[in-house]
Amino acid sequence: MSPGPRYSALKGVQDILPPDICLWQEVESAAGKVFSLYGFQEIRPPIIESTDIFTRSIGETTDIVEKEMYTFPDKAGRSITLRPEGTASVVRAYVEHHLYNLPAPQKFFYSGPMFRYERPQKGRFRQFYQIGVEAFGAADPLMDAEIIAMLTVLLERLGLKGVNVEVNSIGCENCRPAYRKALQDFFSGRLDDLCPDCKRRYEYNPLRILDCKVERCIELRRGAPKVTDFLCDECRSHFDKVLSAITLLNIPYVTNPNMVRGLDYYARTTFEVTSEHLGSQKAVAAGGRYDRLVEEFGGPPTPAIGFAIGMERLAALLKEKEGPVAASPDVYIAPIGEKATTESFLMAERLRAKGLWVEAGYDGASLRSQLRRADRLSAHYVLIIGDDELSSGKVKWKNLKDGSQGEAEMSGLPEFFPSFFAER
Ligand code: HAM
Repeated sequence: MSPGPRYSALKGVQDILPPDICLWQEVESAAGKVFSLYGFQEIRPPIIESTDIFTRSIGETTDIVEKEMYTFPDKAGRSITLRPEGTASVVRAYVEHHLYNLPAPQKFFYSGPMFRYERPQKGRFRQFYQIGVEAFGAADPLMDAEIIAMLTVLLERLGLKGVNVEVNSIGCENCRPAYRKALQDFFSGRLDDLCPDCKRRYEYNPLRILDCKVERCIELRRGAPKVTDFLCDECRSHFDKVLSAITLLNIPYVTNPNMVRGLDYYARTTFEVTSEHLGSQKAVAAGGRYDRLVEEFGGPPTPAIGFAIGMERLAALLKEKEGPVAASPDVYIAPIGEKATTESFLMAERLRAKGLWVEAGYDGASLRSQLRRADRLSAHYVLIIGDDELSSGKVKWKNLKDGSQGEAEMSGLPEFFPSFFAER
């Protein structure tokens, strides 16, 4: 008996194994297809960046920057951070490669691991995967609606039902100061009862009190002023146009004036897609507008908007719905005897060359154990090759899915078999 594993994965990170990986692949493939219908192209930024890229964009006083970044000095003493999200890197790349010189809007998508040193719990990991999109150069509210539509089309295509689209506008640098002040006035009489984090938030970012998960703070914020009551004319009109455009597309949504995102770069539209099936970490995707960030990174004034989907959460919802659909071989060849094993070894290669997934048994395994394996793998067809088949040149096949059987010329199999899968 083995003594057991000597090593295990770090806390908050996980291996994604078959068959669950099939759901991930399904999502990635559907996302690539849907995003391309809207003109988004893939971009692959690095996983490590200079730390200030994140502190500048996400915000010095956000939880992500204050508590959650994997930051370390490299061998030359530069401060490096494992990306906690993708937007900052894409903006950095957009400005660094002067992509603003290309015709607007420029639209990108990316997928990959992100890292946040959070307290692990259901749906919250320290290494997690996002699929994200970012669109640069379109200020029109129709772009906000189009991006929200693209997200809902993808989720629909994946068969996900019962999710909520929550939309908000958090205003811009013109109207937010008045809202900030109104919030501070509201909480000033309640300051002593707020949690220590919210006491600090009161000073530097009172909006974030609206996002606190502490029971007492949730109670204390009842009746707090709503950001949507403080929007300037431009922000109000932008928000109204976004809402009427998503109404035009028949996308059900709710406005949620308490939705404050955990990143500082947002202005105007913010949105989240949530599901009650996810427990306390209920956002499966989230995003918004960040019209000032490109400029802050040294580029020309460029409106921008994007979102990111949390893959673990989406996969959990899909798994709950249908379970992982394990991929299975098209053909299992069970040889009996040494000569047949060589023949099946060659036949497997010929069928693979025609695009079929073929598993072949090895010499010495009994027919019973081979058929058990074919069954466990859920192979579609099984072929048995023994001495009789070798001398007659004919082989029997059986469809394990519907029980049908037949006989075929062995030499003709590479032409004959793929026709069974022609619909693929
Ligand atoms: P975010 O809200 O921080 O936004 O993350 C987006 C999504 O990533 C969340 O809704 C959630 O599904 C998933 N997520 C976040 N943290 C974790 C975690 N620790 N474990 C598992 N899943 C997690 C952003 O990251 C922005 N960059 C989105 C964006 C793109 N905004 C504009 N463009």
